[in-house]
Amino acid sequence: MNYSFDQIIERRNAYSTKWLKFSDNEVIPMWIADMDFSCPEEITNAMHKHLDKGVFGYTDTPESLTEIFIEKIKENSGWEIKKEWVVWVPGGVVGLNVACKTTLAPGEIVMVPSPIYAPFTEAPENMERGFIKTDLKDVNGRLELDFESVKDLLSEDTKMFSFCNPHNPGGTVFRTEEIEELSRICKEKNIIVCSDEIHSDLVLEEGATHIPFASFDDYNLENSITITGPCKTYNLAGFPIAAAVIPNNELRSDFQRNTNGIVSHIDSMAFVAAEAAYSNGEKWHSELLNYLKLNREILLQGIREIEGLSLTGPEAGFLGWIDCRESGLENPGNFFIEEAKVGVHDGAWFGNKDYVRINFGCPSSVLEEALLRIKKAFSQRN
Ligand SMILES: Cc1ncc(COP(=O)(O)O)c(C=O)c1O
Repeated sequence: MNYSFDQIIERRNAYSTKWLKFSDNEVIPMWIADMDFSCPEEITNAMHKHLDKGVFGYTDTPESLTEIFIEKIKENSGWEIKKEWVVWVPGGVVGLNVACKTTLAPGEIVMVPSPIYAPFTEAPENMERGFIKTDLKDVNGRLELDFESVKDLLSEDTKMFSFCNPHNPGGTVFRTEEIEELSRICKEKNIIVCSDEIHSDLVLEEGATHIPFASFDDYNLENSITITGPCKTYNLAGFPIAAAVIPNNELRSDFQRNTNGIVSHIDSMAFVAAEAAYSNGEKWHSELLNYLKLNREILLQGIREIEGLSLTGPEAGFLGWIDCRESGLENPGNFFIEEAKVGVHDGAWFGNKDYVRINFGCPSSVLEEALLRIKKAFSQRN
């Protein structure tokens, strides 16, 4: 391995949201979705070069970025995107919000699977639109869509379905049959799908492959907004850059119109970092995947040894959704943070307080220490 994923980097002095959250410095922060690894030199060198020019200013989207992005999507999933379909936005969450504004008129609603990354339910509220939740089924630890619930809950007013593939927090990589069924239902009811695929380059599960929702058939292509980008894959979280891929011309121009005057510029450094990541980050990315697979094994093994906890997968990403239902804990999130001193993300934020989400995008030694602490805290419970 040429990159040092084992290196411990002090992040409290780097304005890190993750590392500044807990006032108790003993707590190991393992919550928000950025990783504790440094970006590869392939990215930072490009940024240095740009910085050294010393002049920034308003920036047009580099065509070369869109070209390499398209090339990468094709390489990773086979989906062939046209240049004009791509709208760059300053972040995935911005994309989710603008998608709600674009597809839903006042009084219309989006269906959102639950549990889910909270901005999915915040977006319709921000845009003064409604939402309805469909509970995902926990099938032996894998979060799956409950198609019966989806069908039962759909109403005339439901105009959009928010899909998260791979899923956050569950890590599910949805398979062909699942996408086919979702697509069938949406087609029947004329529903547009906003598919957040920001974690799609981080598939860990042997045999699983990411299928872009839009690539499945012509209906999906014409009736979808795909949100994706480099920030999770290359640990550029916090950089204001993501792509909304919208093949339908009318939908895309509505989406663009809804960004006017509200959605900020993307700064030149974000463009430079994104282009360098897609162009030269492949080696780092493939080593990252190997490291995350190892960490996932460490995590699974550790959690399996603790009575009352269970975890399967995740099939993708660096976030584990730990099932604490058998633990009998009233508030597992608090227990992990206060008793084990492991700063997990409370499941309540995603819609289920009986789970916690742990971020294993960190040096293995840190993960091992966290698991020891969790084990000890559980063994000392009375
Ligand atoms: C599914 C998903 N979408 C979007 C985001 C955030 O994207 P951004 O930081 O670009 O707004 C996250 C971050 O965790 C995420 O998990």
